[in-house]
Amino acid sequence: MPTVLTVSGSPSATSRTGRLLGHVGRRLAAHGHEVSHLDVRDLPADALLGADFGHPAIVEATARFAQADGIVIGTPVYKAAYSGLLKTLLDLLPQYALTGKTVLPLATGGSTAHVLAIDYALRPVLTSMGADHIVPGWFTLDKDITTGPEGTVLAAGAAGAVEQVTDAFLTSLAGRASRLATSGPHGRAA
Ligand SMILES: Cc1cc2nc3c(=O)[nH]c(=O)nc-3n(C[C@H](O)[C@H](O)[C@H](O)COP(=O)(O)O)c2cc1C
Repeated sequence: MPTVLTVSGSPSATSRTGRLLGHVGRRLAAHGHEVSHLDVRDLPADALLGADFGHPAIVEATARFAQADGIVIGTPVYKAAYSGLLKTLLDLLPQYALTGKTVLPLATGGSTAHVLAIDYALRPVLTSMGADHIVPGWFTLDKDITTGPEGTVLAAGAAGAVEQVTDAFLTSLAGRASRLATSGPHGRAA
């Protein structure tokens, strides 16, 4: 089964983006995927801000990207784009760190004015990093992510949309796995 890394670019300790990623991660795990999570805020700030490519925590984060078949990247919208925190990590990854990977971009924000931030800001960066297939992403309003007695609750409209993009991601991951099974990791006939 494919492995998936969920990555949160929120600096907040009580992040809605993190809760959204948890929600998506549980759906992926329920489909048998091995899911692990990386909070960029947990990486050492001096390594991120000092561009310390060789810092053990950065080396480990890079390896986790390399090992994943699929990446779910979540960011809060800050000043009409993705967070600076997320960019500090993306800048330290190899140029083509997303080669061969399926990517699902997610964003949370306070205003529908910035609903396109995934497409005009984040998607070009992910493309430049060689992502094999970036499936349609989704922007969720922060007010639509709440916590109930049983954990994260998404407002009905948001829940349906997130389910739809997650399922498209699952389909794309399955297609990738079957392509690799037929052609091998280097594109040769198996
Ligand atoms: C510094 C800052 C800048 C923000 N800029 C925007 C923005 O430009 N557009 C928007 O829709 N929301 C903006 N927001 C709201 C956040 O994107 C939103 O509350 C988000 O869900 C927070 O995610 P988090 O809880 O994971 O950090 C901003 C919030 C902060 C703290």
